[in-house]
Amino acid sequence: MKSLNVFFLNLTVQILDFSYKGRDYQRFWVLEEIARAPYFAFLSVLHFRESMGLRGTDHLQLMRQHFEQSANETDHLEYMESKGGNLYFIDRFVAKHLVLIYYWVNVVYYWLAPKFAYHLTYEVEIHAASTYAKYLAEHGPNEKILEILNDELEHSRELQNAMQLVG
Ligand SMILES: [Fe+2]
Ligand SMILES: [Fe+2]
Repeated sequence: MKSLNVFFLNLTVQILDFSYKGRDYQRFWVLEEIARAPYFAFLSVLHFRESMGLRGTDHLQLMRQHFEQSANETDHLEYMESKGGNLYFIDRFVAKHLVLIYYWVNVVYYWLAPKFAYHLTYEVEIHAASTYAKYLAEHGPNEKILEILNDELEHSRELQNAMQLVG
C-alpha cells in the first residue's frame, strides 16, 4: 500500500512538473490547492465517525491537529494567490477538478485505512518541502517560502505521529 502511494505521487508530480515548467507560483498554487484537501477529508470522516458514536481515544487530538493544518494550508494558498498563482482560468480549472477527485479519494481512503491515508499525505508534505527547498536553492532567500517549507515539515512530523496513533 505504501509503495502504491509513492508510485501514484511520483507519477502525479512528474505530470505536474512537466506541465508547469517555468511557472513556479502557478505550480505551487495547484500543489497547495490539492495538498490541503486531505485535511478536510480527515475532518469530515472524523466528524462522521463522531456522529456514528465511533469516537476513538485520540479523536479530539486528531481533530484539532487537522483543523490547524487546514487553516495553515489556507495561509499558504493565500500567499500563492498574492503571487498570481491562480491568475489563469486553466490553472483554476485543473486544480478544482483534481481537488474534487482527491477529496473523495481521501474520504474513502481515510475511512478504510487511516494509517495509509496519513502516509500518502505524509509523502505529499515531504514532496512539498523539497519543492520549496529546491526553489530556494535556485532563487535565493525568500522568508515566506522558507516559513511555508518549515510548515510542511511540521505537518509531515504531525502526520508521522498520527500514523502511530491510528496504527
Ligand atoms: Fe502547504
Ligand atoms: Fe502542508
